Amino acid sequence: FHVDTDASEADKGIYPYYMLKEINEQPNVLRKLSQKYLSDDGSSKIDTKLLDAMKAADRLYIVGAGTSYHAGLVGKNLFEKLVGIPTEVEVASEFAYDDPLYSEKPFFIFLSQSGETADSRVVLQNVTKRGFPTLTITNVQNSTLSREADYTLLLDAGPEISVASTKAYTAQITLEAILAKSLGESLGIKRAEDFNLRQQLGLVATGMQAVIDEKDQIDQISKDYFVKATKAFYIGRGIDYYVSLEAALKLKEISYIIAEGFASGELKHGTIALIEKGTPVIAIVTQSKTAGLTRNNLEETKSRGAKTFTIATEALSEDGDDIVLQDVDEMLTPLLSVVPAQLLAYYTSLNKGLNVDRPRNLAKSVTVE
Ligand code: G6P
Repeated sequence: FHVDTDASEADKGIYPYYMLKEINEQPNVLRKLSQKYLSDDGSSKIDTKLLDAMKAADRLYIVGAGTSYHAGLVGKNLFEKLVGIPTEVEVASEFAYDDPLYSEKPFFIFLSQSGETADSRVVLQNVTKRGFPTLTITNVQNSTLSREADYTLLLDAGPEISVASTKAYTAQITLEAILAKSLGESLGIKRAEDFNLRQQLGLVATGMQAVIDEKDQIDQISKDYFVKATKAFYIGRGIDYYVSLEAALKLKEISYIIAEGFASGELKHGTIALIEKGTPVIAIVTQSKTAGLTRNNLEETKSRGAKTFTIATEALSEDGDDIVLQDVDEMLTPLLSVVPAQLLAYYTSLNKGLNVDRPRNLAKSVTVE
């Protein structure tokens, strides 16, 4: 059983495709989430019962599929930095049939836009049988995963119609940040206490809008370098690598370009053999510790003939960067760096004359294992 949101429920308005509408909605989704879960003074409105259950855990497990899995990877960094609790991120379909070694007191977080993904449901059933506590973060109230978990947090991003997920990804990361900050604060972790998330999310929303306002430039890059490409790569390190995975997924889902995201340091161990004259390679550079290394790796692809692009934060930007993002806390840069990648995928699909919202072979929610 599964309910697909009826497209007529949400008006496309002036937008040719839902995907562009949903990309555009992201700054507001973020502001709404921030208001819903944080008070004006920045304190948390998250249910203390949930926080207490999480506090008792010795390890967090984040489970998801597709884009939700990618949002989980970014969440790992937030929970480890702001709460100091080891966090594992698992692909639902893998975790479902492995018999992992659980820690003594695990806590499970399920990320699912639809709340109906069959693979995630199998894991939820398995861990519930073992008596482990569970939380579902979803965009759909009363969805199966939300009903079957002990706790639920709603994204409230509004219906996401386009098969390629955009606003759910940034909403999931935002809510993970709110949860990590709330939990860290309640544990008295200094870094969480000092983290002015409410203010940061305001900056992120403005930064997102600034990228959206530059969309014609991304359209041009798409026309000049991506419409005819058969393969493309995103590279980065740390959370920039995690965003590379999501950025590449967007491109392959709707433009059918063979696109992969790689840890930039791994290129030299094999992948660089795929670089030919004109192959587009995009580096994401938002982390001060690794910016120089990633730029060197990008140069290495360039000297093998790649057509290179950079998405960088202002603080780390250099002359010639293609997309410059406004500065926000380094833990939150995925919320900004993913937006040009969403737009690039959108325009490449559009410019190729494809059905942006309904790519071949894919479904919005997958209710089979
Ligand atoms: C499908 C969709 C993806 C989505 C994944 C997980 O494959 O096409 O966009 O990321 O399912 O969906 P969920 O609803 O669990 O987030």
